[in-house]
Amino acid sequence: MLFHSRVVGCGAHLPERIVTNDELARRVETTDAWIVERTGIRQRHIAAEGERTSDLALAAARRALENGAVSPSEVDLIVLATTTPDDTFPATATKVQAALGLDHGAAFDLQAVCAGFVYALAVADNALRLNQAKTALVIGAETFSRLLDWQDRNTCVLFGDGAGAVVLRAFPGAPDPKERCVLSTHLHSDGRLYDLLYVDGGPSSSQTVGHVRMRGREIFRHAVVKLAEVVEEALKVNGLKISDIDWFVPHQANERIIDSTARRLGLADDKVIKTVDRHANTSAASVPLALAQGIADGRIKAGQLLLIEAIGGGLTWAASLIRW
Ligand code: ACO
Repeated sequence: MLFHSRVVGCGAHLPERIVTNDELARRVETTDAWIVERTGIRQRHIAAEGERTSDLALAAARRALENGAVSPSEVDLIVLATTTPDDTFPATATKVQAALGLDHGAAFDLQAVCAGFVYALAVADNALRLNQAKTALVIGAETFSRLLDWQDRNTCVLFGDGAGAVVLRAFPGAPDPKERCVLSTHLHSDGRLYDLLYVDGGPSSSQTVGHVRMRGREIFRHAVVKLAEVVEEALKVNGLKISDIDWFVPHQANERIIDSTARRLGLADDKVIKTVDRHANTSAASVPLALAQGIADGRIKAGQLLLIEAIGGGLTWAASLIRW
């Protein structure tokens, strides 16, 4: 028997502390004007000492479950996308599972850096389609600030912490693009581009946590081309046109990447949901944080067609079409 998945709940959580560009300008040689002009970022939320990825993930998951009126006991799959797990192992997802009071189903982490949420959505959607689970929590959660070199102005101004989550439920029948469902997911990577964006630490390479290192200009160039390509692929597979999209909810890395991609695709600015000014780049959390914002302010409504995409280290990139 065929199944399809449907998003039934969405929630997010941000750490309380807000760090402005001016505050960063007191630490490294930068200015609010430079950061706003080059990235669109005005502030970011930063986790407090002792506040972990699992804390942010759990809060977002609880909100998503409440939003969907789903009892935690119904969840039988948790896929948590993160680059900043609490510990090297076990998976942070298992902590969330325990905190939700669950002792059944499966919980694991997924590492695709900034593309992690779309990858996690694909994994959960596939599991539900194959009847391996009935109710899945898909979470993107990061304390990315812990990976930053706060002396490096090239990177420390770009990122923030946060978490977002969706609840997926399985329904009988193949996905129908006119009905509420995840229409399709499209995943790509190119490991030849590993060195464009990486962390110079890790358990196997150096037994340290390390810091983010980035070749920003090259990332920018690849991002605009690859994101437009994967979006075209998603539209083509579903026989849709860009004008069919109600909301474009892109990865929130940089406003210039978002604008260039939207322009390349021929998408009007008033169809784009942007949170990069307030959240900065929260890696795997950025897309679900933007989704939660679009729902909270009433823009995203049931039945609308959403296009999500993301690109990150690896390089990894992905897109999905969702009838919300
Ligand atoms: N404040 C002031 N000056 C800075 C800062 C800063 N925070 N950071 C870099 N500069 C300087 C550089 O040192 C350089 O100075 P130089 O010319 O004297 O050497 C100058 O600004 C220009 O640097 P560029 O790297 O050429 O600046 P660019 O216009 O490309 O903007 C940026 C840099 C914002 C990083 C851009 O390349 C970018 O957005 N790239 C994408 C990177 C990204 O989004 N990464 C996130 C992870 S990947 C993802 O999620 C998609």
